[in-house]
Amino acid sequence: MKRIVIFASGSGSNAENIISFFRENPEVTVAAVLTNKNSAKVLERCDRLGVPAFYFNKPAFKDSDAVVNFLQGLNTDLIVLAGFLWKIPSNLIDAFPNKIINIHPALLPKYGGKGMYGDKVHQAVKDNKETETGITIHYVNENYDEGAIIFQAKTDVIPSDDANSIAKKVHQLEYEHFPKVIEKLLS
Ligand code: GAR
Repeated sequence: MKRIVIFASGSGSNAENIISFFRENPEVTVAAVLTNKNSAKVLERCDRLGVPAFYFNKPAFKDSDAVVNFLQGLNTDLIVLAGFLWKIPSNLIDAFPNKIINIHPALLPKYGGKGMYGDKVHQAVKDNKETETGITIHYVNENYDEGAIIFQAKTDVIPSDDANSIAKKVHQLEYEHFPKVIEKLLS
């Protein structure tokens, strides 16, 4: 059995989609969801879905091995960042080489980096009159959004789109592809 741990900071719709997808797969399980925000909606989702969820604060994450030890204790095979907004510290990267992946809601290297998350990304795509955007799934290194790219998928942006409608299109791509890419990485 392969064990995934998901990190999420907000709504967690991707986390829920991944959890639901792997309920059908006897070889993969979502062992836990971790969040850095104790009011995140992802916690309600985990409660409803019966998936263990845990909160950590910044000192535990950045200045200790608490999270690394916890993940090792869970026998984690893959760490999946799904809307997780803190930079991953080097002790975590070193403990899980090539076992941490992130999804970014744009076609990296465009619209990545510190502060570029969620609707800010979609607004920038709109402001720059892009005709396409998409998703990027990539390995995580110590710099925001710079690890090796594993997968990208595109969607059109039309003049009548706003940040909201772009977000919807991008979320659809995320729901369709992210679980399948995870499944392939674990096979
Ligand atoms: C997703 O669109 C994800 O790509 C994005 O946050 C959203 C989380 O939605 N991540 C980033 O912007 C990371 N830089 P969700 O909480 O509903 O899954």
